[in-house]
Amino acid sequence: MTSATPTTNGGNTSDTEAAARMIQKETGADLYAIQVEQYYRTPYLATAATSWVERQFNIHPSLTALPESLDEYDTIYIGYPVWWFDAPMSVVSFLENYDLSGKTVVPFATSQDNDIDITMDTIREAAGDATVLEGMRIHNAKQSDVQNWLQEIGILQER
Ligand SMILES: Cc1cc2nc3c(=O)[nH]c(=O)nc-3n(C[C@H](O)[C@H](O)[C@H](O)COP(=O)(O)O)c2cc1C
Repeated sequence: MTSATPTTNGGNTSDTEAAARMIQKETGADLYAIQVEQYYRTPYLATAATSWVERQFNIHPSLTALPESLDEYDTIYIGYPVWWFDAPMSVVSFLENYDLSGKTVVPFATSQDNDIDITMDTIREAAGDATVLEGMRIHNAKQSDVQNWLQEIGILQER
């Protein structure tokens, strides 16, 4: 099985990238960073304002360097920070760009406080016909926590 692990910013080290690398360690998935045309990670206020406007007005931001197809992947691990009590709209843009029927989507999130649950409706809707497995909030997690979760949802075999 092959898989891709998208993260939500342009390659700077981030909580989400660190979480993606923990998953990669267990699964060997390829890493891919979702990048928006308008880069808004810093400064914080610009990020906060832009992401709030996108969420409020249901704006799906344009992405750069999207893979043409995900055909070679069965499983997509989709990672993102919780922004404004939901998934960033760039993640919606990414998922809805593809026909994901027959694929498995595995969400994971980083956040200050909120659980991944509050983002799951958005992810399920954007993932269309994909099978969306139970996501994990990866926060102060040990490698073994990530491994246990992947076993629980049936991605990894119990060893
Ligand atoms: C614009 C913005 C909105 C945020 N909204 C939330 C939120 O609603 N709930 C929460 O628990 N954390 C929220 N956070 C905190 C981030 O989810 C958290 O810091 C995350 O680990 C950042 O991941 P990153 O380093 O990959 O960007 C927000 C952060 C930003 C910048």
